[in-house]
Amino acid sequence: MPKVLIIDDEVPILESLEMFLSEGGYDIRTAASAEEGRELFRAFEPEVVILDIRLPDCTGFDVLAWLNQSANPPKVIMITAFHDMETAITSMKNGAFDYIHKPLDADEVETAVEKAVRAIQAERAVPVSREQSDIVEEDVIVGKSKAILDVFKTIGMLCRNDATALIQGETGTGKELIARVIHNNSKNSKEPFITLDCSAVVENLLESELFGHEKGAFTGAAQTKLGQIELAGRGTLFLDEIGELPLGIQGKLLGFLERREYLRVGGQYPQRSRCRILAATHRDLTAMVHDGTFRKDLFYRLNVVTLQIPPLSERLEDIPDLTRHFLKIINHSMKKTFQLQEGTVSILMGHQWTGNIRELKNVITAAAVRSRSNVILQEDIQAVLSIHRDGEQTLDPAANLSNIEQQHIVRVLKAVGWNRTQAARLLGISLPTLRSKIRKFGIDPSEP
Ligand SMILES: Nc1ncnc2c1ncn2[C@@H]1O[C@H](COP(=O)(O)OP(=O)(O)OP(=O)(O)O)[C@@H](O)[C@H]1O
Ligand SMILES: [Mg+2]
Repeated sequence: MPKVLIIDDEVPILESLEMFLSEGGYDIRTAASAEEGRELFRAFEPEVVILDIRLPDCTGFDVLAWLNQSANPPKVIMITAFHDMETAITSMKNGAFDYIHKPLDADEVETAVEKAVRAIQAERAVPVSREQSDIVEEDVIVGKSKAILDVFKTIGMLCRNDATALIQGETGTGKELIARVIHNNSKNSKEPFITLDCSAVVENLLESELFGHEKGAFTGAAQTKLGQIELAGRGTLFLDEIGELPLGIQGKLLGFLERREYLRVGGQYPQRSRCRILAATHRDLTAMVHDGTFRKDLFYRLNVVTLQIPPLSERLEDIPDLTRHFLKIINHSMKKTFQLQEGTVSILMGHQWTGNIRELKNVITAAAVRSRSNVILQEDIQAVLSIHRDGEQTLDPAANLSNIEQQHIVRVLKAVGWNRTQAARLLGISLPTLRSKIRKFGIDPSEP
C-alpha cells in the first residue's frame, strides 16, 4: 500500500484527506507542524508527502528542501491558500512534484497522489543511471533500417569525391544533418560548411548572397561583399530549399555549375570557385520541372547523385535508437538524467510522424520538459502526442498551430535557461530561424 504523509496545520483538512485517501487504498499519516512532519517522515518513510506551504513553525518550502535532501526523497505535492503564480512557480522550481491550491478538490488531490505513485513505480522499474553522458555526438545519423543503410552507402561514396548531390525528403527527415555529415567526412572537412536557405531571402538579395556584389553595384552596396560561394572556399555550400530558388537565379546557378565561374552582382570579371554544392528540398522537383517552375537542365546538374531520404513512417524500426539518441542530447543540454518508462517507445512507434525525425525530437523534448521526475512516463508522451495530433487536425486555422509552436518554443527556451543555441539544437532548427521565430512570436525572456 503506498504510504502518504500529510503535513498541514488545518485539522479539518487533515481529517478529510486522511479519510478520503484511506478509502482509496493509501496508508496515511498526518502531522500538524513541520517538526512533527519531519519526525514522522523519518519513521514512516512515505513515498508521497502532501505539504502545506504555510505551517506554524516554518514554511513549506523549508520542509520541501529538507525532504529533497533526504536519502529517499518523496514526491511532494504542495498545497496553498494562495492562488498566486509565484508560489506555484517556486514550488515546481524547488522540486515539488505537483501543486494544488485550496479549497482542495478531493479528486484533484487523489489524481495528483496517483500520478506521484505511478512516477515512483516507474522510477523503481527503471535501472538507476545517474551518470550524465558528457560525450554527445551531435552530427551523427542514427538508424539501422534498410532504408537508412542505403543512404549511408551513398553518403560513403559522396565522401570520396566532390560530386554535386541533391538531397530529397520530407520536412524533418534529416536533410541538413546528412549534408553536414557528408561535409564532415569529406577530404575538405576542415574547410567551411556554408548554408544558404534559398527560401529565406528575397530574389535580388539572394543573388548577392550567393555570388556577392561589387561596391556600388546597387543602392546600398557601399562595400564589396563576398558571396556564400566565395565564403565556402574549398568547402561545401549547402543550398537548402533549392526548390524555392527563383527562376532568374536558377539560370545563374546553372552557369556556375557548368563553368565553375560566376560574376559578383555588378562585377565584370568572372570569379572561380572550387566549392562542393549540396542541395536539399522537400519539394518534388520532377513535378516542378514538369510545370515549368524548376529548370530541367539545372535539375540534372544538381541531381548527379540523389539521396532520397525516406520518411520516418517507413523506418519505424529506427525509433528506439533515435529516441535514445535524443534523450542523450536532451540530458546533456538540460543537465538531467532522464530515462524513459518501459512501454513509451512502443507508443512512439504508433504515431503518424508527419513531421518526421524533427517531430520525434520535439516530442521527446516536450515530454522531458513536462516530466516531473527522472523518468518520462507513458502519460507524458501521450499528452504531448495528443497535442501534436490536435495540431495536425487543426492545420486550417493556422493560428492554433503557431500557438502550439510558440508554446513549445517558450517551454524549450525555459528548460535550457534561455540559451538560444541549445534551444535551437533541441528544436532542430537553426539559430537564425529560432531568432526569427522569437521575433515573430514576440517571445520575451522577462515574461514568466
Ligand atoms: N537519422 C538521424 N539521426 C539523428 N538525428 C537526426 C536524424 N535525422 C534527423 N535528425 C535530427 O532531426 C532534426 C531535423 O533534421 P534536419 O534539420 O536535418 O531536417 P531537414 O530534412 O533539413 O528538415 P526541413 O526540410 O524541415 O528543413 C535535426 O535536429 C537533426 O539533427
Ligand atoms: Mg532543413
